[in-house]
Amino acid sequence: EISSLTGEVKGELRIAVVTTAKYFMPHLLGVFVHRYPDVEPRLFVTNREKILERLEEAQDDLLIMGKVPEELEVDATPFLDNDLVVIAPPGHRLAKKRAISLKQLLNERFLLREPGSGTRLAMDKLFKEEHLVLEPYMELGSIEAIKQAVMAGLGISVMSEHNLRLELDSGKISVLDVKGFPLRRHWFAVHASSRKLSLVAQTFLDFIRDEGSAILHD
Ligand code: PGA
Repeated sequence: EISSLTGEVKGELRIAVVTTAKYFMPHLLGVFVHRYPDVEPRLFVTNREKILERLEEAQDDLLIMGKVPEELEVDATPFLDNDLVVIAPPGHRLAKKRAISLKQLLNERFLLREPGSGTRLAMDKLFKEEHLVLEPYMELGSIEAIKQAVMAGLGISVMSEHNLRLELDSGKISVLDVKGFPLRRHWFAVHASSRKLSLVAQTFLDFIRDEGSAILHD
């Protein structure tokens, strides 16, 4: 019976997410906790490198990241699309151009995440595949700082569309039409294969897999 099962889903739920996931994870937790009021969520936010350390140290029930680690034995469940886009201030001279090449982008001042960031890793890889070297004009350790810097006209950047909802809606940031973008990635919920999930963690995993995308795109 649903009601008796609901009552059993309780206790701590420890989730660690990469910084880019902090924009949507509270919304999923909000719905989940409403359904299972006795769950005590703990949300830890940091970059990919630190998330991988936490995974090795088994500090969390589930970890949310943009790329499955190859070096560790894990179970990974994709649950949401993650489109990376190239962003510029509105009125940027490339804003009206179509099919901009990666090479053309190299003339721009790039605002990049810190080494250790999964977004940074994806960017470096993309340019490397085209035999191009992406030189940061500035490295910033936070998405908020990058967004502010883009709006201030300091340069262009790349980030997950999930992180830009408010700025795109209000027209404060523009998305450039660059070949190969949006770069489609996925969000994965990951845990060490050796770890048996608690009932709460398993219920949350099923929930984000089955309903996450619909909840966030509403
Ligand atoms: P980041 O992670 O917050 O470390 O850039 C994003 C990702 O792993 O996709």
